[in-house]
Amino acid sequence: MNKQNDLFETISKEANEELPVMGEAVEAGQQFINDDYEDVSSLDYDPSDQAAFNRYYKLHPQVKQKPELREQNILLSVRHLKQFFFFGKGRNRQKLKAVSNVSFDLREGECLGIVGESGCGKTTTGRSIMRLYNITSGAIYYRGVRISAGNRWNKKEIKWAPIHAKERIEELRKLGTPEAEAQIRELEDKVSMVKPVQNAKIKQIKFDNDHVSQKLLNEIQMIFQDPIDSLDPRMTVEDIIQEGLQIQGFKNKAENHKKVVEMLETVGLVEEHSSRYPHEFSGGQRQRIGIARALIMNPKLLICDEPISALDVSIRAQVINLLNDLKNNLKLSIIFIAHDLSVVKYFCDSIVVMYFGKVVEKAPSDELFKNPMHPYTRSLLSAIPKPDPRYERKRQRITYNPAEAHNYENGDLPTLRELKKDHFVYCNEEEYQRYMEELKA
Ligand SMILES: Nc1ncnc2c1ncn2[C@@H]1O[C@H](COP(=O)(O)OP(=O)(O)O)[C@@H](O)[C@H]1O
Ligand SMILES: [Mg+2]
Repeated sequence: MNKQNDLFETISKEANEELPVMGEAVEAGQQFINDDYEDVSSLDYDPSDQAAFNRYYKLHPQVKQKPELREQNILLSVRHLKQFFFFGKGRNRQKLKAVSNVSFDLREGECLGIVGESGCGKTTTGRSIMRLYNITSGAIYYRGVRISAGNRWNKKEIKWAPIHAKERIEELRKLGTPEAEAQIRELEDKVSMVKPVQNAKIKQIKFDNDHVSQKLLNEIQMIFQDPIDSLDPRMTVEDIIQEGLQIQGFKNKAENHKKVVEMLETVGLVEEHSSRYPHEFSGGQRQRIGIARALIMNPKLLICDEPISALDVSIRAQVINLLNDLKNNLKLSIIFIAHDLSVVKYFCDSIVVMYFGKVVEKAPSDELFKNPMHPYTRSLLSAIPKPDPRYERKRQRITYNPAEAHNYENGDLPTLRELKKDHFVYCNEEEYQRYMEELKA
């Protein structure tokens, strides 16, 4: 592929996240819950009560969980997410790394911005969280429950661990010392364990993917980039908004209609609109229909994929204000995807900057705007105009060229490093030292 991709093609140690073994989630006292147990949807569960939590979300107790995420109020945790697309067959098979090692946490009630140029993998990240793809590698936890996981890393480990071990053993053999012999034995023991351990993990991953709680997934909804393409032109607005309810089994027509009207009003439309078709609306109104369709599912996490990019400048503010009201009134957590930083500045609590499928910087919003460290973030910032003619005359547009900006050829490879609390930058050791100096100054 091209040079830029090569530069970012580095193997990160963090990618070796420990994936869980079958049965780890089963704690003493937990029992398998049948599908026909009593409905406890009105239960106000205690988040620390694991059994009540499982009952509430109809969770299979063997699905991998990280209850500590709930304790820390982390609603969504994306860990080392990789999403590759494959083209062609046999020797012509090629892969496109749309998302490669993306990690972030979203706390309850917070808004997280994902920013980066077109094609850097923002939509793919959103769609992966929505489970619209089988993810290639990594894991996604929602409310501490693993809702999606990929096994590519584990399969690679099975393949490569013996090969690497063999190389190392040959080196040690040459030494011939008793210490080396001991190390060889240790290594052989370790390698013999890789296959069974990783196979168990792969099995657990499959199990988790097959036993996702629909109730959990319903709490995550997405607003799509293109308000024209994402609405079926042959369906009335009423049918579009109701579709989710119908799928969930709510069949009462009068009740559903009442909910639709309620949703239309929430997003600033009126009852008369419900019998019309999408083409009768303007772009901004269509986006509102898209929002109503998401809201009727009573989401807790809303993924907004460039919700205003396709809209006229004059109505962008309206949609942003609507989202802001929803966030405050419905206590929604939001992932806001955008291709420039100006939109997310006032809206988001923290920001993730992506470039070519990788996270290059992430930090709380204030911190990112105060101390942008990665050259790509700086170039994004330099693109934001200010309503100040004197500033504008002097404003210089910084362009980012990874081949010039970094020197990753001498074995000093970049990883995501924490510069200060919650501020992460994708850099190598030399850059890390330099950024630390700059931050001190
Ligand atoms: N379903 C798909 N099949 C193959 N390639 C895809 C698919 N979806 C996205 N891609 C590719 O993945 C990359 C990232 O796309 P996307 O996530 O849509 O970027 P963004 O939303 O940041 O503009 C692009 O190169 C795109 O062409
Ligand atoms: Mg996109």
